[in-house]
Amino acid sequence: MAEDLIITTGSKAEQYQSLIPQIKALTEGETDLIANLANIAAALKEQFGWFWVGFYIVKADELVIGPFQGPVACTRIRKGRGVCGSSWEKAETIIVPDVEQFPGHIACSSLSKSEIVIPVIRNNTVVGVLDIDSSTYDQFDSTDQRYLEEIVGSIRWQGYK
Ligand code: SME
Repeated sequence: MAEDLIITTGSKAEQYQSLIPQIKALTEGETDLIANLANIAAALKEQFGWFWVGFYIVKADELVIGPFQGPVACTRIRKGRGVCGSSWEKAETIIVPDVEQFPGHIACSSLSKSEIVIPVIRNNTVVGVLDIDSSTYDQFDSTDQRYLEEIVGSIRWQGYK
């Protein structure tokens, strides 16, 4: 399998449509969850160049940082705290156009201006979240939500304790 990502220009939808089959090719033959999360975070960061892309994984009563691309970030987040903890609690994607306007936002970096968090739901339970931060305001919309939910939905979330 080729490990080079083909980077596309074009509309946001076109970029996702090019990226998603590549993510599937990268992950379909691999059963190790952490390996797949690492490559998905890297592929998204490489295509879109966002400030921070990564996964938090539910462990007991907290989210714990998992594979990510970008600057170091908060290690643990409690349920209901920040955008990630709220997405976990509500089991819903949350789009934040301006992080300063989100009550309780956890600022891992002052460079982060907007954010989207997508919960990973298996058997009606949130098992983790995909968190993406941008250094520009109002970066994320329903197109990102649609395609990121597709990516998150395709992850084989198994074998993780
Ligand atoms: N801003 C997030 C915390 C995680 S960092 O952005 C990587 C939040 O409010 O949950």
